[in-house]
Formats: sequence, C-alpha cells, structure tokens
Amino acid sequence: MLVIVLKKFRSAFTNLRFSKIYFREILVISFLFVILISFLFNITLQNLLLLFLLVLIFDLIILITIGFKRKNEIDEIKSVIKSIRKNQITNVNDIKLSDSLSDIEGNFKAMLKRTQDDIANMEKLAQARSDFLGYVSHELRTPIFTIQGYLETLLNGAINDHKVNKAFLEKAFKHSENLNSLLNDLIDISMIESGQMSMSFRYFNLSEFLDNIIIEHKQYAEGKNNELFISEFNNNLEVYGDKEKLKQVFNNLLSNAIKYTNSGNIKIIVEEKQKTVQFKIKDTGIGIKYDEIDKIFHRFFRTTDVRDKSIPGTGLGLAIVKHIIEAHNSKIDVKSKLGIGTEFSFELKK
Ligand SMILES: Nc1ncnc2c1ncn2[C@@H]1O[C@H](COP(=O)(O)OP(=O)(O)OP(=O)(O)O)[C@@H](O)[C@H]1O
Ligand SMILES: [Mg+2]
Repeated sequence: MLVIVLKKFRSAFTNLRFSKIYFREILVISFLFVILISFLFNITLQNLLLLFLLVLIFDLIILITIGFKRKNEIDEIKSVIKSIRKNQITNVNDIKLSDSLSDIEGNFKAMLKRTQDDIANMEKLAQARSDFLGYVSHELRTPIFTIQGYLETLLNGAINDHKVNKAFLEKAFKHSENLNSLLNDLIDISMIESGQMSMSFRYFNLSEFLDNIIIEHKQYAEGKNNELFISEFNNNLEVYGDKEKLKQVFNNLLSNAIKYTNSGNIKIIVEEKQKTVQFKIKDTGIGIKYDEIDKIFHRFFRTTDVRDKSIPGTGLGLAIVKHIIEAHNSKIDVKSKLGIGTEFSFELKK
C-alpha cells in the first residue's frame, strides 16, 4: 500500500516538474483571484486563508494535469527524435505524433525529407567524383604509357637507329602535346564546375577573329582532304563576348568538324539577326546517331561510332563549349544525320 502511494506521489512530482514553466503565472492568477474575492465579499481572514489554501490545492491539481500532458508530448517527441537518430525511420510517413503535435509532426517530416535528399545528393556527388577520377586516370594513362613506350624503346638502343629515332621522338612529343591539351581541358572543366570560370566580356571584330581561327585549322582540314569555307558577312560586324573563351568554342567545334569528316566540307555560316549574330558550324562528316545526340554535351561522352573507330579524343570539348556558350546567356543546338553530317549553331549578342 505504502509502495503504491509512494509511486503515485513520485509520478505526481515528476508531472509537476514538467509544468514548472507555468508555476509563476498560475500562482499570480490565483493570488489575484483571492484578493479580488476578498474585495468583493466581506470574508474573514480565516476564511480567506482557507480559500487561498483551496485555490493552491486546485492549482496543484491543474499543474499536475498539465505536467502529465506535457510529459507525454515530450516523451513522444523524444522517441521520434531517437528513432530518426538511430535510422529506424526511413519513410517520412512513419512519423506519427498525436493531434496536438501535428505542427511538429509536419516539421519533423520536412526535416527528415531534407536530410534524406541531402544524403542522396552527397552520395550522387561522391559517385560522380569517383567516376570523374576513374575517367581522368584512364585518360591520362594512355598518353603517359605511350610516351614511356617510345622513350624506353629509344633508351634500349633505338636512339642510334637513324631510321626510327626522329619519328619516335616526334611521336612522344605529339603525345606530350595531347597530354597537355587534355590537362588544360580538365582544368577548364573543373574551373567551370566549381563556378570559378571568370569571364571578360567586350565587343570585338568578328572578321579578324574568324580569319585567325581559319588560318589555325586550314592545315589540319587540308590534311584530311576537307574544304573549309566561311560565309560572306559584314567586315565591320562586332559581337559581344569573351574573345578567348569564344576562340576555344570555335576551336573545339571546328576541330570536331574536321576530325569527324573525311574528304568533305566544313562551313562556318555567319548570319546577322536583329540583335544577335547566328553562327553555324556545318560539316558533311560521319554524323551522330539519333539516340546519342542528347548525350554529346556530357563530359567524357563519345559516340559508339567514334569509339569503335578509335578516333582519338576525350569527350570534354563539347562539355566545355556548352558551358562557355551558356555563360554568354545563349544556348547551343545540334542537328545531325548519321552518314550525312552535323550542324552546331548558337547566337551571340551584337
Ligand atoms: N562534328 C561532329 N560530327 C560527328 N560527331 C561529333 C561531332 N562533334 C562531336 N561529335 C561526337 O560527340 C562526341 C563528343 O565530342 P567532344 O568534342 O566533347 O569530344 P571528343 O572530340 O571526342 O574529344 P575532345 O575532348 O578531344 O574534344 C565526340 O566523341 C563525337 O562522338
Ligand atoms: Mg572534340
């Protein structure tokens, strides 16, 4: 019996602890109530003390009841937090609190959803990073091994063989150039993706700009028996953009057009519009399969055709082009037919 009473007393005391924050308010209200009664009715001091005592007992009951409710609610909240912390709740709909806590239930659900989304994004990022490192190391390995191979052959005696020594050195040098351009592309991509690509916009003369680009590609095009044309346009035409970055765009698009075309022609078409200048880089090369067109701007993507034919490349050029064009508030489009040719187009502000 004593044990039961003690238990009840302990639980009442515990409940009371949970309503501690209301003590002051309830005491002040009760005190004011007793004073008001004493003013309104002419009661003796003895009755007044009795009334005060009754009010205190009533307060105690109210506080224990409030404490009981609060304790239950806090226990509910604690148990949900504990389950979330221990990863026992994976579905947000498994979070259930009583009706009086529906607001908190909504907040918990939103919090868990956000955390789950963050974790999923982090996992995706970690996967993308490891894929990226995988591609990079694979791409770096090829030119490094090739250079090593030539140098080793030379060191093992070929250096004295006048029929091959120069050719081997030239090949090693060519691969070191490829390695350098691959590293530059990788640096560009990582700068772009970390948002560190700095742009410097200004107006520049288009005719002079394109002439220089054509000169740089002429030899490569002729080497593959390709004719390189540029359409007629106003010699004084100026466009607004980052000249160096746009040079990279034209270099990448033209070297692709030449690389993926044999004995055909490549045209740069410049068309003046009302507020912009439209550029088309059109070739009569191998073309791109319909179902692969969407992917060609993804970094490291190369079409199956190109990979099957072992045409050299890394699949970074167009990813860089796309970022640069987008940094000019424009977009790049592509049309292509397998075996017929490909056309890339974009506009720049004039
Ligand atoms: N003019 C084109 N004609 C046909 N296919 C093209 C053309 N331009 C791009 N492609 C396809 O798109 C892919 C991606 O092009 P991208 O320029 O990004 O990479 P790449 O030329 O393979 O290598 P690199 O990083 O050296 O430029 C190419 O591998 C090729 O399959
Ligand atoms: Mg390319």
